[in-house]
Order: sequence, then C-alpha cells, then structure tokens
Amino acid sequence: MHCLKVFLYDFGGEIKYPENLSFGKDVEIIRIKDISTEETRKAVEKALETDQVIFVGPSHRISERFFHDPNIKYVNAREQVAWVGHNPEKIRDLIQGSIDKLRSSSKIEKKRFPIKYKSALVIGAGIAGLETARQIANSGYKVYLIEKKPFIGGLVARLDRLYPAGTPNSHVLYPLINEVVSNPNVEVLVNTEMLEADGIVGDYTVKLRTKGNVVEGKLPKKCEEVCPVVVEDKIIRKAIYYQPTYPEAYGIDFDSCNKCGNCVKVLPELTLGESEKTLHVGAIVVATGLKGYDAKRITEYGYGKYPNVFTKLEFERKFANGFIKPKSVVIVNCAGSRDKNHLPYCSRVCCMLGLKAAKLIKDTAPETEVFVNYIDMRSYGIFEEFYNTVRETYGVKFVQGRPSEILQDAEGKLVVRCEDILLGKNIEMKVDCVVLMTGFVPDKETFEKLGIYSSGAYPVEYVNSTYSIDSNPRGIFIAGSAGYPKDVAEILINAANAPGGVIEILSKDYVENKTPTAKIDSKICAENNCRICITACPYGAVHMKGEEVTVSEEVCMGCGICTATCAAGANQLEGFEEKGMLAQIGGMTKQGDIIAFMCKWSSYNAADKAGHERLTYPENVKIIRIPCTGRVSSQMILKAYESGAKAVLVAGCPPDACHYFTGNFKARKRITALKEMLKQFGIDPATLALEWIGKDESKRFVDIVTGLNGKK
Ligand code: FES
Repeated sequence: MHCLKVFLYDFGGEIKYPENLSFGKDVEIIRIKDISTEETRKAVEKALETDQVIFVGPSHRISERFFHDPNIKYVNAREQVAWVGHNPEKIRDLIQGSIDKLRSSSKIEKKRFPIKYKSALVIGAGIAGLETARQIANSGYKVYLIEKKPFIGGLVARLDRLYPAGTPNSHVLYPLINEVVSNPNVEVLVNTEMLEADGIVGDYTVKLRTKGNVVEGKLPKKCEEVCPVVVEDKIIRKAIYYQPTYPEAYGIDFDSCNKCGNCVKVLPELTLGESEKTLHVGAIVVATGLKGYDAKRITEYGYGKYPNVFTKLEFERKFANGFIKPKSVVIVNCAGSRDKNHLPYCSRVCCMLGLKAAKLIKDTAPETEVFVNYIDMRSYGIFEEFYNTVRETYGVKFVQGRPSEILQDAEGKLVVRCEDILLGKNIEMKVDCVVLMTGFVPDKETFEKLGIYSSGAYPVEYVNSTYSIDSNPRGIFIAGSAGYPKDVAEILINAANAPGGVIEILSKDYVENKTPTAKIDSKICAENNCRICITACPYGAVHMKGEEVTVSEEVCMGCGICTATCAAGANQLEGFEEKGMLAQIGGMTKQGDIIAFMCKWSSYNAADKAGHERLTYPENVKIIRIPCTGRVSSQMILKAYESGAKAVLVAGCPPDACHYFTGNFKARKRITALKEMLKQFGIDPATLALEWIGKDESKRFVDIVTGLNGKK
C-alpha cells in the first residue's frame, strides 16, 4: 500500500531522471506528461486525499501556479539540476530529502474562518473614516461609524483650507458627509469610543461607550448661552457647541463639561449620562487620523508661555476667524520633528501645512511679512510647484535653519533665534506671532486595544502585511493617516485599500488562511517557559493567553522566526517543523556537500535565475527553500555538518528588506554566535556563510557557492 506519491514531470524531456528511481514499497512514482492539464491537476488532488505528495519538476515559482495545496512538497529538478548541467543522480538525493521531511512532518491544516457578521466597525469619522464607511456601505454592508468627538469630520472639519490650492474644506467634506449620513447602511455614533474588542476575522465582539445623546434638529441658542464652561479649542467656544458638519444638533464636549445641567433645563431631551453597547462585526477599520505632538514639550519654543506662539491648527482657526491679525509671522517647520528629543521621524505633511499657512496669510493679508524656518523643504511630487509659487509669487521668505529658542521682548514681540545656514550666521527675527508646525503621533491606545503591533512609531509593518498577498486573512485594517501621516488627497486616493479589504472579506462565507502558521505545544512550552518566541515575532502574533503562550492564526505570517528561537521545540511552524527540517537535511546530504538554506523571497530566486541563465556551479550544492533566514535554527546548520556537509550557506534578503522585517538580522545574530561554537567542534567557521542575495544576483550566488566549495 502506497502512502506517498512522487510525481515526475520531465518538462518536455529537458529533465533527465536517474535510472531505477525507487524509494521503497510505500512510495509510488508517477510520470506525467504535462503540468498544466486538468488531468494532472485532478491526479495530484486525488492523491492528496489519501497520500502525501511530492511534485518533481520546475521551480516552486512555476509549480505553485498549478497546485494550491500547501501539503505538496516540490523538488526543483529543472533549475537546480537539469539547467545547471548537474548529474541527474542529484535528483535522487533531493527527492529523498523531501520524502524524509514529509515522513517527519504533520499535515498542514487548512483553516477556515467563517464570516459570521456581514458588517464593519469604522473607528473615527474623519475624512478617511467617512470615505471608508461610504465605500463599504455602498457595497451593501452595514457600517457602524463611531467618533469620539461630538461631531464627525475629524481634523479636516476644523481646518479652514486644504493645500495646495487653498481650497476650503467644505468642498471635500460636505458632500462626503451628506452621502455617508444619508446611506441607510451607516449608523453614526458620536461621542462614542471603543472600550475593547475581541475575536477573529468575521466574528469580532466590540464594546462601545457613548456619552450623552443627540437631539437632532433642535438648536436653541440658549443652550450655549447658559453653559458656564468656556473652552479654548483653537477658537473660543462653550462646552456645549455647534459644529456645521453632523449631527445637526448641539454637541457636548464631555472632556470639558462640568455636568451642571443648565443645557438640559433648556433642552430636556438632552442627557449627560453614559451608555454601553456591544456590537458584533466581521471587520474593523481604524481611521483615527492624525494626533498632533504636544507643542508644550518643546519648551525652548515657549508654547503655552507666550500667547502668540500657536500650533498650526490654532493659528489657522484663529486667523481664519479673524481673532488675530499679525503683521509679521514666523512659521517653524519641523518643530520637534526629526529630533531625537521629541519625534525622531518626519511627519511628512508638516512642510506642506507650513506652506499652506503661509499662503493663507498672504491670500488674506498680503502685506503681512511671513518667514518660514525649515531644515529641508520636503515638497515632494507636485508640491514643488506649490513651494515655488509661495516663495516666488507670494514673496514668503525662507530661512534654512532650526530655531534654537523663541523669546519675548519687552514690547511683547516674539524673538526667533536661529542660525541661517545659507548665510552662515546667527540671526534674530522679531515678529508678532510664531506658528509651530509640530509633527504627528500614532494612536497607540486604539492599536493596543486591537492588538496591532508596531516596532516603530507607526504600525507600517501591520499596514503592509494586511495587504500583502501572502498574509493570512485578517479583519482589522488601518485607513488614512492612522497608518502614517498623509494629506487629504492621499487619504482619499489611499482610502480604497481598507474598504477593498473589508468588502472582500464580508462578501465571502468564509476565508482561508494563506500560509501555514506556527503552533505551540503548551505542555512542552510550560515546562520550559522561556517566552522568547513572543518577542521574536515581528507581528505580535505570538502572545500570552492567560498562562499559555499562543499564536494568533490570523496574524501569523508563517515566517518561522519564532520556531527557530524555541530551543525546547514547543513552537513549530507547520510545513517547516524542526523534526522535518532535520530529516530533510539528513536525507539529502552526502559527504562533501554544500547545503544552502535560501529564503524564498530573494535568494532562492537568484539560484533559479542561475538556472535560466545556464550558469554552472558545483554539483554538490544542494538547496533547501525556507520562508526566511530567520527560520534557520542552529540545529539545522549543525545537522548539515553532522550529515557530511563541508560548508553551509544561509542566504536571505538584503539588509532592511527581509520580507518579515527582522528575520535576516535575527539570522545574522544566530550565525555569528554559532560560528564561535563551530570552533569548539573543530569546524572552520569560514565554512558557514551568511549572505544577502537579491533575486537578480545569480552570478553572485554562483561566486559565493563556488568560493565555499574551494574551502577545505
Ligand atoms: Fe528573506 Fe527574511 S524573508 S531573509
């Protein structure tokens, strides 16, 4: 009785197979004529129902196009043997390695996540949240759109104009608001925040808290008049106020409200209490937008100390509403940005916001003297023209240099001290007011509630991996500037991503995982209890659940970095379990071989290219395809030596370009330590090489393995 089937495809006679190919009674060899026929596909699928399957032929890159089951193991006999002129006998070893691996591996489970709830929660009703809600609702799905503030519209609603043309925000915002709030699929909840969320794609339970209520269509001015709380929210207003967006009602700013109840006496339908609500949704979108950096922390600029030092939003609102009429202004770009004491990164849109403020002043009061302090002017793409217009046509003066301090003189004028880099001297500018273009900070609170991991300031890895074609299905998306700062046009262009992902999920009955995932044997793990794999995961997929280390299947990307860190063997990546990898290495390695562990994203493709180019390299080089160099454990390398290898190559993506962000650097750390250990075993550390090989670097790959072959 066979339990393993090996399909051999000779690629029109190009792949020569060894004579008398046999691997024991339980392995059946099946020769096929054409990889692309329905007959072949059906034969492979049928075999998979009862047996384990190995497909021998062209590279994985080609074969995976025809078969989609992760349980099939591929042997690349075309690129790695036939096309590089190696003896067909090598194929026997490669097949033997795959057989041994399969025999020591468990079946990869196909996981299905049912889409139980055909609805979405969108957190944040700024421009990105509104556009996201619009697209999802227009596709026929229910959307709960929640907003922490009493009105929707977000930051854009509080701005006067949009750059580069200085278009009033009403051009963009009002039609969008009207379309969203009139869609019966959208339920808007203001003064509402998410308390917690739990679940997986298709089935999330979310707890919300709403403060107060909305009394639409009633706007007794007296509500504002009786409110004793005056709030300086860029302009002066009361704790109960009206904003011309939505809802058409008085909204209570509960951060300022003292609950005196005066407004309730005027409008008895108003309530000041809180209510909680639980929702069930299939997907969640974070669209919480931009949060400004606290300007008070840049103490040398005097914000909060001098009344005429403003943040960008304060200035725009006060200036546009006529509260201030300065005759001279300094706009400080990069205030606190690209500064290790504050925000080490560039917030990307502040330079343009600075230009917008300069244009706004000149458009309204052309006689005003305007200076812009900058480090580098990041007027990317089409905005270079905007910069030139502001400088040349509007006569705004640009000073390159970061202000060292801002003081106030005896007449109340602000003195901006800075070095003018172009003039090469220190200067002082005396002006009526200063506008600080501070950067932006991510909404860590919401990210934490949703388990969105970020290794830097913004969860860029998460944003990328959510949309990555090989990522597992995940029902949590980030839209707009919550991912990293963007301008309004970019938000609207970019806004198709999150709703597209949500609609794709909600339109299905279930979604399947695309990559194998790591699994934890809780018994072995508890005995060891090191928890190293938690910090090793670049995505936050490995975490504690109660007392146990567990893997979120919908977040795991299948890189295997965590598996390689687990010395106890409790953590295993499906399809790349340690036992299976060791069996494969043992099964394929002959005395004097060079075992090359090559990452499927970069270096493996370089070896394939060497085949296409018919380059030759030593026949004793045997390649093992791995998801990432981070998956290569020390035991795997030692097993290669123990099985007779004379050298080992671990080859991955170029630095900073690892598909899983940090896998190649983790591999470097491991290999550096292992080299020290090799000496103790009497193995020359120079025979263990770690290389970054890009997909086009076929010649370099050949040089590297040829060089390793020359080592004794
Ligand atoms: Fe290529 Fe990590 S994915 S080295």
